[in-house]
Amino acid sequence: MRIAVYPGSFDPVTNGHLDIIIRAADKFDKLVVAVLRNSAKQPTFTVEERMDMLRRVTAAYPQVEIDTFDGLLVDYLHHKQAGIIVKGLRAMSDFEYEFQMALMNKKLAPDIETLFMVTSDKYSFLSSSIVRELASYNGSLEGLVPELLEDEIRRKIYHP
Ligand code: COA
Repeated sequence: MRIAVYPGSFDPVTNGHLDIIIRAADKFDKLVVAVLRNSAKQPTFTVEERMDMLRRVTAAYPQVEIDTFDGLLVDYLHHKQAGIIVKGLRAMSDFEYEFQMALMNKKLAPDIETLFMVTSDKYSFLSSSIVRELASYNGSLEGLVPELLEDEIRRKIYHP
């Protein structure tokens, strides 16, 4: 069975993430979307909220599993018996950091491959922090996050 892991903070999930999830899902028998638990970042949404949002927007894809992890990503892949890390690449600015991470992960676990998927150009400007920033000013999130999450995300962040 080909199992891949798509790791990230997903604070919150955006249409850019969803684009990668949907495109990656049918390339593997199972795609585990793994929410990082012990991030140095101070998250806006709890891990449970982030997992719940991910579950709802991927409900139509039975091969997608939502999970959480802490510790080293490669240890988590071994635990899940997964061989591939899926990452989305948005712009050259992502490349240096992602390349460094991929090389470090390769050094730690030579049996694991990192697969970079190019983010659709319409989402190349998007990030979770841009979404949070926009929501804090009550800006429209239309087209940036899955429609069923728009109000929920704004309500959590916007406090007039
Ligand atoms: N479309 C839109 N935005 C995207 C995107 C896409 N396809 N892919 C990523 N992003 C954005 C995210 O929204 C996020 O935005 P923000 O920083 O503004 O909030 C940003 O890009 C970074 O996202 P992400 O890829 O989730 O990075 P991360 O730093 O939150 O998580 C891990 C990366 C979890 C893979 C990494 O920290 C990790 O592996 N940690 C475990 C420890 C470990 O093993 N480290 C490596 C060896 S030392």
